Amino acid sequence: MYLLGSRVYVKCSRCHFALCLREAQRCQSSAAPLEQADFLKGAPHRNHPGVTNLKTVHLPEQLQVAAQSVLQGADVKSLTERAHKLSNFLWSRKRAIETSQLREKASFFERKFLEQERDKDGNDHKLEARIRNRVLSELRKTTYHRTPLRYNEDLGLVYMAARLAGGYAAVLRALHEIKKRDPLFVPYSLMDFGSGLGTGTWASHSLWGDSLKEYVCVDSSGDMNTLAEQLLRGGSEMDNPVIKQVYFRQFLPVSPKVQFDLVVAAFSLSELDTLNERLNVIFTLWRKTNSYLIVIQKGPNDNQQ
Ligand SMILES: C[S@@+](CC[C@H](N)C(=O)[O-])C[C@H]1O[C@@H](n2cnc3c(N)ncnc32)[C@H](O)[C@@H]1O
Repeated sequence: MYLLGSRVYVKCSRCHFALCLREAQRCQSSAAPLEQADFLKGAPHRNHPGVTNLKTVHLPEQLQVAAQSVLQGADVKSLTERAHKLSNFLWSRKRAIETSQLREKASFFERKFLEQERDKDGNDHKLEARIRNRVLSELRKTTYHRTPLRYNEDLGLVYMAARLAGGYAAVLRALHEIKKRDPLFVPYSLMDFGSGLGTGTWASHSLWGDSLKEYVCVDSSGDMNTLAEQLLRGGSEMDNPVIKQVYFRQFLPVSPKVQFDLVVAAFSLSELDTLNERLNVIFTLWRKTNSYLIVIQKGPNDNQQ
């Protein structure tokens, strides 16, 4: 099992407290050793109340068995190789360039090429076309082209082999932080946006299974929802689900009337193409949050476009 480095943001709607867990841990370790020693009163560092280490995470037995059974039944060709490729692809993927940035870049190149051509023949009637071609060619060479992923049945299986364990561990870790820091919090409902294989449902069930009575999984891919449901049924389509009251939706309900105690978006905001879409979804999720909104994302790789 491996967990891709990721940033976890947790925001509590009750106290408007936002925390980037990774940043917080870095701050703790850079605190002055003297103060720390005093604060700990000689106790070992691992007993510091801010340390919420999680031991090695294992997939719930039923989920692991279900995933294996689905993969055996599906017989996907070159699964290991494709799973590695997908992991690397997801890891190195950048955000798509925004239209406004693309326009800015185009005008920059246009100005640059016009400047270079200034001293040439003033009656050159092909100048405009030549500059346009040069600008287009430069944009093609220097702009990251983001390939959208369609999570169909085949890609869903490869994604499962590549990321089920890592995705589950990432969500469990974030939720574990909440449970440890807010032990009196007892969630009744969960909504998982871009729920994929249902890792949000499984992880929250592992921690608060007794209290959670409603899980809403929102994923635009019908195939992903089918696969997630199959996992809940132990790998078959017939058996009773291991976790009850899980509902699947393909569209995010926008009305703030129904709220959820926990709202999770794990590795799903990065699937949205534009900044506008991401902001709209975040605002909608926030309006639907009763207690905690958890956003888990890999840090962006896109310093250069
Ligand atoms: C990288 S997977 C993450 C799955 C899961 N949250 C996890 O942690 O493993 C992204 C998921 O977001 C879904 N998705 C992409 N665009 C979406 C949208 N506009 N609304 C809902 N789900 C979306 C995809 O179908 C896919 O299942």
